[in-house]
Amino acid sequence: GPLEEVSLPLFFGWFLLTSIQDKIKCTSMDFLKTLDTLEAFKKHLIDFSGKAEEVDLEQYFQPTGILHCTTKFCNYGKAEGAKEYAEKQAVKDFYGSIFDLSLSALFVTPRTFGARVSLTEEQLQLWPADADAEKQAESVPAAASMPLGSRAHVTLGCAENVEPVQTGVDLLEILTLQQEGQQGEQVEEMELGTLTYYGTGKWLLNLREPISAPACFSSFYG
Ligand code: A2P
Repeated sequence: GPLEEVSLPLFFGWFLLTSIQDKIKCTSMDFLKTLDTLEAFKKHLIDFSGKAEEVDLEQYFQPTGILHCTTKFCNYGKAEGAKEYAEKQAVKDFYGSIFDLSLSALFVTPRTFGARVSLTEEQLQLWPADADAEKQAESVPAAASMPLGSRAHVTLGCAENVEPVQTGVDLLEILTLQQEGQQGEQVEEMELGTLTYYGTGKWLLNLREPISAPACFSSFYG
């Protein structure tokens, strides 16, 4: 019936609790503010504006709503594997449960701003097993060979006219470079951790202390 047709959400994921959302927004804005002022960043400004002009990163990235880590994008059942995912035992068992997500890095590209999420074995039970979340990022061919859950992230902001789905693609691109042995250019020891530049506007800050973020596994209908 019609009820069944709308029973699959836009996506499943972990939704960060309000208290930690505020903390992460503060920390991430501080990071953007600092990044903006670094000589190393200014040297590569052309990646961001197409000109060597200053950018205000806090303005450059638009917030994208409630902070969350998508596990499975279902598109109300239209996405491949949506029904199978919703029927997984782990998804049913853990629906509504609180988890501690570990945010291990922040990354910035000319398109997106995000936080990498390092999933535990238990949390990986909620990751689409066939790695189709990775495959959805078709523009990163090497992504298929990445460990399960590599794409896990929280979108913190997107540049104008960029969709949030791009954040996972950008993260996979950086991780692929790392996996291929590209060291990147370690540019700065910041208070929060080590900042590395991977070329063409890709910046990654490995957090010295991962941020522990309580989050509820649930779904979003929109
Ligand atoms: P992300 O998880 O990177 O934030 P939208 O508002 O564009 O419909 O997207 C809703 C959520 O689902 C966003 O969180 C978004 O990205 C994620 N998302 C959108 N499309 C996809 C896709 N094709 N694959 C994986 N996640 C997606």
